[in-house]
Amino acid sequence: MTTTYRIALIPGDGVGREVIPAGLRVLNRAAEVTGAFTLTAHEFPWSCEFYQRTGLMMDRDALQQLADFDAIYLGAVGYPGVPDHVSLWGLLLPIRQGFEQYVNLRPIKLLPGLRGPLRDKGPADIDMLFIRENTEGEYAGHGGRLHPGAPDEVATQTAIFTRHGTERIVRYAFERARERGKRLASATKSNSFNYSMVFWDAVVNAVAGDYPDVEVRSYLVDALSARMILNPESLDVVVASNLFGDILTDLGGALQGSLGLPASGNINPEKRYPSMFEPVHGSAPDIAGQNRANPMATVWAGVLMLDQLGQPEAARLVMAALEQVVREGNTLTKDLGGSAGTREVTDAIVAAVGAAA
Ligand code: NAI
Ligand code: MG
Repeated sequence: MTTTYRIALIPGDGVGREVIPAGLRVLNRAAEVTGAFTLTAHEFPWSCEFYQRTGLMMDRDALQQLADFDAIYLGAVGYPGVPDHVSLWGLLLPIRQGFEQYVNLRPIKLLPGLRGPLRDKGPADIDMLFIRENTEGEYAGHGGRLHPGAPDEVATQTAIFTRHGTERIVRYAFERARERGKRLASATKSNSFNYSMVFWDAVVNAVAGDYPDVEVRSYLVDALSARMILNPESLDVVVASNLFGDILTDLGGALQGSLGLPASGNINPEKRYPSMFEPVHGSAPDIAGQNRANPMATVWAGVLMLDQLGQPEAARLVMAALEQVVREGNTLTKDLGGSAGTREVTDAIVAAVGAAA
């Protein structure tokens, strides 16, 4: 029997409107080719343009509207004219927090055929899986401003680390490490953050007791960032708090050779709520509407979606197709040194999914 998945599309702003339809075409092709499932997609107009019309980034009952979907496919939100903290706190963060998408999953992999920015490191060296805490920590949104604008103004932004929140992300990371190279690196800063990160380390050590087969090491986050450049082959699965993970994964994204490639999943592992999959890049206003956006990050996000939905065969097919188009190097967008457009690259990936079957 074929399963049908309901996918909520939020293309958002700018190139989001080009790459989400591209990604959906590839996923539909994978569904056809495997014959294992079908997708029904419903599109939501929530975006900065929606905000300029309504004063809201999304409907008030948006989370209720989204709750029954199996997954959310997000382009990007943010556009000149709307402050970035409005678009972020009006859409992205409420979905991540409201749906307990406490895992932010970011594969950092340099695909064969591409030259990364590091002189001596190639695809064999750069292959990591970052697991970032996605609902609390430094981005808990706790704080305030006292006497705004006055000379004695005070601003506070308090990081929140709960035992429940820390334990579940660390445990998830150990599980993924067990499936891969059985090596886990934890990003810490327990020298300076003498409460939150000392606590983080203690939780890592406690959970490690349940995973004697996984080798775990803690690195101070600053040293870890240097290690990602000098010794990336020494890293496999990495777990980090919200802020540390945010910064390290941008560094990781840069190692992938173009912002047109990195993908991320915002995951509720218990599947109580839908998970959300997105390219890491933003709305790229400078190239929006010109058929210039690289759709590969969104396609890769689709691979993460297929995995989470429980369609590993389709996920494998799409990833292989993406890797094939990159390796052949004939149909690439400008950010990867080619001259093809969004549509041509999408056509090539769709064709490769069919050919690989
Ligand atoms: P950006 O990621 O949109 O663009 C940075 C540079 O990378 C630009 O030169 C752009 O042309 C290029 N680029 C991005 N995606 C590309 C693709 N698929 N193919 C080829 N080139 C690509 O970051 P920027 O300019 O800092 O932000 C633009 C807007 O996007 C802002 O409003 C920002 O807040 C928002 N944003 C939203 C995110 C989200 O919704 N998750 C994430 C990052 C930024
Ligand atoms: Mg970021």
